Amino acid sequence: MTETSFTPRVFSGIQPSGNLHLGNYLGALKRFVDMQEAGGYETVYCMVDLHAITVWQDPADLRRSTRELCAGFIASGIDPEKSILINQSQVPEHAQLAWVFNCVARMGWMGRMTQWKDKTAGKNAEAASLGLFAYPSLMAADILIYHATHVPVGEDQKQHLELTRDIATKFNHDYGVDFFPITEPVIEGAATRVMSLRDGSKKMSKSDPSDASRINMTDDADAIAKKIRKAKTDPEPLPSEAAGLAERPEARNLVNIFAALNGQTVDQVLGDFGGRAFSEFKPALAELAVAHLAPISSEMSRLMDNQDEIDRILTRGAERAREITAPILKKTYEIVGMVGPVEL
Ligand code: TRP
Repeated sequence: MTETSFTPRVFSGIQPSGNLHLGNYLGALKRFVDMQEAGGYETVYCMVDLHAITVWQDPADLRRSTRELCAGFIASGIDPEKSILINQSQVPEHAQLAWVFNCVARMGWMGRMTQWKDKTAGKNAEAASLGLFAYPSLMAADILIYHATHVPVGEDQKQHLELTRDIATKFNHDYGVDFFPITEPVIEGAATRVMSLRDGSKKMSKSDPSDASRINMTDDADAIAKKIRKAKTDPEPLPSEAAGLAERPEARNLVNIFAALNGQTVDQVLGDFGGRAFSEFKPALAELAVAHLAPISSEMSRLMDNQDEIDRILTRGAERAREITAPILKKTYEIVGMVGPVEL
């Protein structure tokens, strides 16, 4: 732990690489909004387009996905006045600090990342991009270029956050400074982990070939209701307590979704629905999901029809971000021994 005290600052990012779905909403966006509203932190949220291109992205698709993600952030309640909302490539200090971190992090650390191993398993790792290997170093730079102290992420990103701490520690140690904070992960709880509607043991995912496995944030009311009606379940009625869901992943998932959308605990939901059949529970869930998501999807499509508004918000976000990132990069370069002056 460092001695210096850092401004409490939240940073998190989402890749603009495809459809946003209910898992992104409950697991990330809604939590980001809660942290924005909680007070006590500055909040910085980022579309990580530089991370997206570690695997091939069609340029037109990337542009569209980036704007759509920005629309998703805003429609979910991220207020670009309260939070700093940015697209990663528009704040060049992310990539500049990442280079320095590429020289701090060790090949061995990167090679141990399970995400790297999973993404290259059974494939030709020699053919993966160098960027994919260095991905976690850029992620550390995203966080540390803001001196962020708290990072809300899913369980799958925990190892990358540990690596971020290792990079900060090694940098501080090698240069004999107390410059980068040791970031705290804020890991999502089981209640906000949304599983596939077709298989309760798999995470809801944009890459699942079955569209019925997920609720997209752009789905209309009919599509949402239909997917919930068709969601996989088991023949038993709902239990009256959370313990009764232990061996029932599909039932647990639907109850979790209900609880998260309605701001209730699982036990409260089961207090109301225990003993009732899915034929009663599903329509209630569909109604709740539509009430919650339909306004978000219509605000997203309004914004997507007003791209200038999105682009203006991102330009302004980048300006605000650079007030934080430019001095931190300048100081980093000084510490490392780059000859200045470094222009702000
Ligand atoms: N790797 C994260 C993910 O795939 C996205 C990300 C990039 C991120 N940079 C970040 C998350 C910094 C938190 C902080 O989910």
